[in-house]
Amino acid sequence: MNVGLIGVGTVGGGTYKVLTENFQEIFHKTGIEIKVTLVADKNVALAKQLVGTSIPVVSDALELIDSKEVDIVVELIGGTGIAKDLVKQALLNGKHVVTANKALIALHGKELFAAAENNNVQLAYEAAVAGGIPIIKALREGLAANKIEWVAGIINGTTNYILTEMKENNLSFDVALKQAQELGFAEADPTFDIEGVDAAHKITIMASIAFGIPINFDGVFVEGISNLNQKDITYAEELGYRIKLLAIAKSEQDSVEIRVHPTLIPEKRLVANVSGPMNAVLVKGNMVGPTLYYGAGAGAEPTASAVVADIIDIARQSKISTKSLIPSLGFMPNQIKNKKLLAIEEVWSEFYLRLTMENKSGLLAKITNIFANHKISIDALVHKEVQEDNQDPDIFLVSSKVQEHQINKVIKEIEALPENKDKIIKLRIEELK
Ligand code: HSE
Repeated sequence: MNVGLIGVGTVGGGTYKVLTENFQEIFHKTGIEIKVTLVADKNVALAKQLVGTSIPVVSDALELIDSKEVDIVVELIGGTGIAKDLVKQALLNGKHVVTANKALIALHGKELFAAAENNNVQLAYEAAVAGGIPIIKALREGLAANKIEWVAGIINGTTNYILTEMKENNLSFDVALKQAQELGFAEADPTFDIEGVDAAHKITIMASIAFGIPINFDGVFVEGISNLNQKDITYAEELGYRIKLLAIAKSEQDSVEIRVHPTLIPEKRLVANVSGPMNAVLVKGNMVGPTLYYGAGAGAEPTASAVVADIIDIARQSKISTKSLIPSLGFMPNQIKNKKLLAIEEVWSEFYLRLTMENKSGLLAKITNIFANHKISIDALVHKEVQEDNQDPDIFLVSSKVQEHQINKVIKEIEALPENKDKIIKLRIEELK
């Protein structure tokens, strides 16, 4: 089986390393010789430094996807511009494609899977979600007997590293981000990671496989961590919770919810203790119950481990058929059905609220009255003692489970009180039971 590598940056370099260093191991497992026969990279000199002189390097990836020397095209340049054209053309040329590109699958999966199907080839994407964790395989194969009820994951290492540092070392978001960049855990432009877009791409893909719905990135609710205050991490801790950037997909009878936002998780849950840049995904199947998958969600070798697993799958299956034995999205293409995607206002949660109010007598009575008028129970309430006369107290509370539009009304009324001094901080809570 001949592999053509497009892009030999971090993951491309890792893929080359895995395929060469583990060549014998892979041969013993597959009985197939899987070799890199062609490399395409804009920086030919750098690519040559990596692969030496025995493998040809070209600067034009179109040359690679047209080459007869290539059976499997591995796209590792990322983005949805040129990468999309190359992947589509490779599929039309009758080549299998392996990619780690989550944005590409989340935004253009429908079109690309159709192209793969029509051309009797495979488009594999294990590395696109949670790096080295074989979560696509777990959902599509290991849990195929189940109706999946929900999936919840810490699937962005950059933000998990930042949140861990904010909690453990009392850092502000800005300082933790800077540290993450210095250590190589965050990109120079970290927007996609910190604003939750990267996690949203990944949960979009998992939701489709879990529930048999079309890939629909546009409907996903996304809120990142850039406005998160260190104070809320401390107060959440006092209430027995950790704050994580959680990506959640839940299926009800006729609807689904797909969302990414900072979330309070009970600290006793295993997933609440996933720290640093690590990833974890919880999947609840109706027969198996909850299952948890943990590992490195990024990095050269872990991501390459998933890329090469896809190459191995294609190589093994190609002994029988060029088409995959497993449908691209886990469900038969004609069984993928739309379900109503709930707007965030319709989603049920418990909420953590932090209020900044002037310390006046009768204030708490006013707040609790507003909750009572809306028939929403307060499950916990903390009023911090003020140290100096002119200081505002921190008040934070946990509501009972309500739909978000209900808590929004409460927030609006409290913010309209004359004592209110700032926007109320609202964070969602997930029990993950
Ligand atoms: N930037 C991602 C993360 C890794 O921080 O987890 C690649 O998806």
